[in-house]
Amino acid sequence: MKRIKIFDTTLRDGEQSPGCSMNLKEKIEMARQLEKLGVDIIEAGFAIASPMDHKSVKAIAGAVEHCTVASLARCVKGDIDAAWDAVKDAKHPRIHVFLATSDIHMKYKLQMSREQVLTRISEMVAYAKSLCNDIEFSAEDASRSEHAFLAQCYTNAIAAGATTINVPDTVGYSTPQEMGDLIRYLKANVKGVDSVDISVHCHDDLGMGVSNSLASIMAGATQVECTVNGIGERAGNASLEEVVMALHTRRDFYQAETGINTRQIYRSSKLLSNITGVAIAPSKAIVGANAFAHESGIHQHGVIANAQTYEIMNSAEVGIPQNTMVLGKHSGKHALREKLISMGYELTDEELEPVFVRFKKLADKKKNITGSDIEALVLHRRNQYIGQCQLASHVVNAGHGVPNTSYIQLSRGEELLENVAVGTGPLDASFKAINHMLGVDIKLDSFSLTAVTDGEDAVGEAVVKIIAPNGRSYTGTGLSTDIIESSIRAYVNGINKMMDSAE
Ligand code: KIV
Ligand code: ZN
Repeated sequence: MKRIKIFDTTLRDGEQSPGCSMNLKEKIEMARQLEKLGVDIIEAGFAIASPMDHKSVKAIAGAVEHCTVASLARCVKGDIDAAWDAVKDAKHPRIHVFLATSDIHMKYKLQMSREQVLTRISEMVAYAKSLCNDIEFSAEDASRSEHAFLAQCYTNAIAAGATTINVPDTVGYSTPQEMGDLIRYLKANVKGVDSVDISVHCHDDLGMGVSNSLASIMAGATQVECTVNGIGERAGNASLEEVVMALHTRRDFYQAETGINTRQIYRSSKLLSNITGVAIAPSKAIVGANAFAHESGIHQHGVIANAQTYEIMNSAEVGIPQNTMVLGKHSGKHALREKLISMGYELTDEELEPVFVRFKKLADKKKNITGSDIEALVLHRRNQYIGQCQLASHVVNAGHGVPNTSYIQLSRGEELLENVAVGTGPLDASFKAINHMLGVDIKLDSFSLTAVTDGEDAVGEAVVKIIAPNGRSYTGTGLSTDIIESSIRAYVNGINKMMDSAE
């Protein structure tokens, strides 16, 4: 079996996708989860991009132990210095330098000749190598670059010290056949290629990011760059869970394996979705709500007789919680901890406490607490208990043909704030009351509500996106069996994030 390295760029390329920005705490939490997932390399950010990016790459470098931590850098000294400063304290640091090599990018974006690009690669890879041993070089827009010139770019990069050469299909234009041919061509024409990893980075503009990555592996690539849930620029990157499960499920065909703990896949996907507020499409392969659901009678009959009739993977293998009735109002902390461990969540006593408090509150309202309910409580613990403002109480008077009013009480430290407002509906009235009491002018950008589990007493998860007066957007999430309460909690959570980031 050939070992394929998984280079996760959720926190860099993924974070560049609209609506997916994360704050420092969230990035560290996600990085820790990626380490549990078993990725080989975490691309933690683009250190030169902003002081916040620099800070978060540095924090992640200090927070993870087993993974290599990379920072992106253009082929310029300032970028490379910033990248090195951010990753140098990591156990395994990497600098990832890139320069575009396609004619269109060189002419219109870089305004550089081929000779200038070749010289810059040699100089800047050598400079990065003088700081760090582990150097990745990416030829941006490689798949649209002239092959012989591209091979020379990689030859120069390897001669200057690159240990990984990355072949990005930056605009998602390539086909699997072409990607495979390109990797074979580079293997035959780049000097020194046998001593380095060949990586691919496939965007999904034509929906072929995963297929292109797999075709590249067949042709000899040894590293794949991907993101959780496939997030990334425009249509996103190759999805980590799809690449990994394709290799795992069809190892007979690919003869390749990764170091991923597949049982952490679902959890990683849920955590990312919970942090960003970007929902996972129900039909999304591997982690979508319908990925293991069988609707038609013929399928259900087949699966009952023998699961393999319609199931090529087992949902437990990717860590999907098994929704049998688990706990109820008489269950204690020990039972909750045991259930969490069986689901892959190992919480400290301090982390368990608020989850247990909310579990008890939920058990008062809901008879059967399922794996999905428990998972939602864990994912929401940091949202509900962190921040300056907490929802203390609310009374909503709503109906058709009457004014909709909302009275809200928020605690902020020792203070108890209150306000009442009239709105076009119960949520509009509640959000207005909160805005008035905090003296903020916040716009609601989007709002969604989903049931975490089935049944009349289902837990509802609300996600709101708010726009702060400075134009920045923040995502808040809230959870309750009462959908108005979950919506108000989500709004308050978004405001807390806004206030945190202003400090
Ligand atoms: O898509 C791309 O080309 C990139 C590079 C910086 C690797 O993200
Ligand atoms: Zn990219």
